[in-house]
Amino acid sequence: MLRGKDIKHAQGKLGVMIVGLGAVSTTFVAGIEAIKKGHSEAFGSVSQLATIRLGKRTDNRNPKIKDFVPLSKLEDIEFLAWDIFEEDAYEAAIKAGVLEKELLDKVEPELRSLKSTKAVFMTDYVKKLQGTHIKQAANKYEYAQMLMDDIKNFQTEKKLDRLVMAWAASTEVYIEPHAVHDTIATFEEAMKSNHPAISPSMIYAYAALSLGIPYINGAPNLTLEIPALRELAKTNKAPVCGKDFKTGQTLMKTIIAPGLKARMLGLSGWFSTNILGNRDGEVLDDPDSFKTKEVSKLSVLESILQQDTYPQLYGDIYHKVRINYYPPRGDNKESWDNIDIFGWLGYPMQIKINFLCRDSILAAPVLLDLILFTDLAKRCGMYGVQEWLSFFFKSPMTAPGLYPENDLFIQQTKLKNTLRYMMNEDLITHLGLEYYDEM
Ligand SMILES: NC(=O)c1ccc[n+]([C@@H]2O[C@H](COP(=O)([O-])OP(=O)(O)OC[C@H]3O[C@@H](n4cnc5c(N)ncnc54)[C@H](O)[C@@H]3O)[C@@H](O)[C@H]2O)c1
Repeated sequence: MLRGKDIKHAQGKLGVMIVGLGAVSTTFVAGIEAIKKGHSEAFGSVSQLATIRLGKRTDNRNPKIKDFVPLSKLEDIEFLAWDIFEEDAYEAAIKAGVLEKELLDKVEPELRSLKSTKAVFMTDYVKKLQGTHIKQAANKYEYAQMLMDDIKNFQTEKKLDRLVMAWAASTEVYIEPHAVHDTIATFEEAMKSNHPAISPSMIYAYAALSLGIPYINGAPNLTLEIPALRELAKTNKAPVCGKDFKTGQTLMKTIIAPGLKARMLGLSGWFSTNILGNRDGEVLDDPDSFKTKEVSKLSVLESILQQDTYPQLYGDIYHKVRINYYPPRGDNKESWDNIDIFGWLGYPMQIKINFLCRDSILAAPVLLDLILFTDLAKRCGMYGVQEWLSFFFKSPMTAPGLYPENDLFIQQTKLKNTLRYMMNEDLITHLGLEYYDEM
């Protein structure tokens, strides 16, 4: 790993390739263009707004993260997006209905210039959508070659120095790991024979990783959680991270659950329900796609609360997650959480949360941070699973056999200490004894 002055500078342009030009992607792209023109600030973005403490509290060294580590500038980003509908980013953003037309009009030329590229898509993996803008090939291996051609053309045309790929397309149906995922050779063989265990998201990831390009998994899809693609990431020195952007209800869960555990308050049940009416909600109305999402959402509490270590507090939790497709609400999701907790002498208490959230407004800055940090990781020579980016995911990837860290505050410490480590600064333990003479 390269550190400090040895990290390659963020010179030249960064090509950001997004799979899916839907609510999250268009909110992200329009937001970047609006921020570049000074219409707003990058609210919600850690890379752009957060500071990082260096040294002792008395040193008063608190630079912004973007001034501390060498990140790409927003001005140096170029976009490519694949989608199954032939639209430009302006039309897609209007359809997504997240941002007002008034704001979109201010960046219309920039959005119009981003036209969707034909996608690799198969209805078996996203049953609720019927696309019209889809590549045609004899097998999945050929599809991957076509994607690699898109990538190379994008790089040449825009004179790009570096690239990152992010999945912000629909959630695919639940797929179990299969023997064909075991090695790069079996995976490639399976692509050539159109094996059903190879989903479109795996084909995109294969294309990116074959070219050594970082891949971010913003959906709960299995994609990178298979030995073949992990091996490919290592072989071609590409950083990877996932799964599923941490927004909305799960963000709240990973803020509240660590607090309850820290105070040794028990939990008997957590019921979460949502209504949302965007295309993501429609796709998740299909039980197979919902299953993928449900697994990602349910795992969070288990790993934070450590049921095996605290069986008397967390051994018998009733955890239920419901997503209800309700078109009138569009992207403005509403969620309700009922949390049944207990304290001293087992006395029960309840917490109710009613979050009127805007999913894509929460997801867009997460996507920006992930893009900038994975590009940084690549320039540091880091590759494979980037666990330090767990902060941004509902279901963080880890090394095989290692349980994920879901507590938002541990994740934040991990993120900031990794940045300190990259820049040869002391890691911060929060011990603090050095401030007191008594020691
Ligand atoms: N909105 C959030 O806060 C949030 C949070 C966590 C995760 N996610 C995940 O991010 C993804 C995107 O969410 P969204 O709200 O933008 O959904 P969306 O439905 O608005 O956009 C997804 C887009 O992907 C396209 N698509 C589907 N399959 C494709 C393929 N194989 N190739 C190219 N394009 C394809 C669809 O046509 C659609 O335009 C979903 O998987 C969602 O579960 C979203």
